[in-house]
Amino acid sequence: MFAKDTYINRRKALKEKVGSGLLLFLGNDESGANYEDNTYPYRQDSTFLYYFGLPYAGLNAVIDIDNDREIIFGDELSIDHIVWMGNQPTLHEKAQKNGIDITLPGKELKDYLDKAIKAGQKVHTLPTYRPEHQIKLWNLLDIRPGADTPSIDFIRAVVDMRNHKTEEEIKEIERACNVTADMHTTAMKVLRPGMHEYEVVAALEAVATANGCSLSFPTIATINGQTLHNHYHGNIVKPGDMLLVDAGAETEMGYAGDMSSTICADKTFTPRQKTIYDIQVASHIAAVEALRPGVPFLDVYELSASVICAGLKDLGIMKGDPMEAVKAGAHAMFFPCGLGHMMGLDVHDMENLGEVWVGYDGKPKSTQFGRKSLRLARPLEPGFVLTIEPGVYFIPELIDYWKGEGRFKEFINYDELEKWRGFGGIRNEEDYLITSDGARRLGKKIPLTTEEVEALR
Ligand code: GLY
Ligand code: MN
Repeated sequence: MFAKDTYINRRKALKEKVGSGLLLFLGNDESGANYEDNTYPYRQDSTFLYYFGLPYAGLNAVIDIDNDREIIFGDELSIDHIVWMGNQPTLHEKAQKNGIDITLPGKELKDYLDKAIKAGQKVHTLPTYRPEHQIKLWNLLDIRPGADTPSIDFIRAVVDMRNHKTEEEIKEIERACNVTADMHTTAMKVLRPGMHEYEVVAALEAVATANGCSLSFPTIATINGQTLHNHYHGNIVKPGDMLLVDAGAETEMGYAGDMSSTICADKTFTPRQKTIYDIQVASHIAAVEALRPGVPFLDVYELSASVICAGLKDLGIMKGDPMEAVKAGAHAMFFPCGLGHMMGLDVHDMENLGEVWVGYDGKPKSTQFGRKSLRLARPLEPGFVLTIEPGVYFIPELIDYWKGEGRFKEFINYDELEKWRGFGGIRNEEDYLITSDGARRLGKKIPLTTEEVEALR
């Protein structure tokens, strides 16, 4: 945990930003995986962690701005808990460490909210993302699941604070990134043809565990890199394959790293693999070089997509003007996802609060295929931490679908594309901090070019 003052100052700033009313924070509870006591790994809600720093189940909190009160609602451990889980500081002691002096039993929260509503106070809530949050809102505020109306003032205030990382947060993110980088270089060193994908997963996840970290999201390690979020690990890696790895560490405090790499199964890439890999790297480097405050990330996305289109045009797979192809949406045949996303306490930071607020500053998102998956588009500001992860993918089902509909024939040469249909996919991903005049990569460098990867093979 950070020092007490960090949490006190964050709450003070939040109160000033929202101005009035009562802010309700729903913590996360334990969740049974296949029966009640066999739980998923516990993860506290990230906004709860950000303002209260308490990574424990069974808590909710209130910041009553109108009456200048900050309260944690939760129950002290019973003797049964202590017998099974060992003794611990009391909830009151834990809360005091982060500058909260009032703790009340969990069941008193409803009473507190009832009185606030009777007194005419506005209760601000955040969007829900777990069924248990919806049930809590139903019990506490009589809001039926799906009928909640989150407070835009509350969302915007939280997003504005969490989007701008402080020095101490950046240090913690950089620790996650360093462990993440080691996970990737380990995968590059251990991979041998004949291995199962899961053997590589075991080796890289061991690096996270050995550094006191968990995973920031379920590992992707696949020979079918054209499937963007492929979580199957049962294939054998054959000579001539590429293994796409997308994996990250999460520190004990909850901060994430998120990197991707594409590794040749053999000691070197084939000339054909290198051709597409070089296009991905050119797109990646163009994006990184464009990062600076004031530049809309939408422009960086379009630039990186146009570099992919230009590279594919050189191969005869695309035609026409690359930037026109991007504006029309033809690039999405090969790059149907976003270029990157904010990263912090969540790997897709604050996605639960709404991408429109986090990545678009309240402006509407495009509905165009490909572009609609861009999680970040707003002008960049110092303190933003984001990923850069362009990819080049050959998705047979998408090729067939668009070809069947005759889509973008002015930009895509379908006859030439047929020769690449089984190629797979390539993605490389790094994490960046926007500084006052540019951007800084976070964490150790991982191999980016084919030569750099081959040097570890
Ligand atoms: N690394 C997973 C993702 O960005 O979606
Ligand atoms: Mn990512």
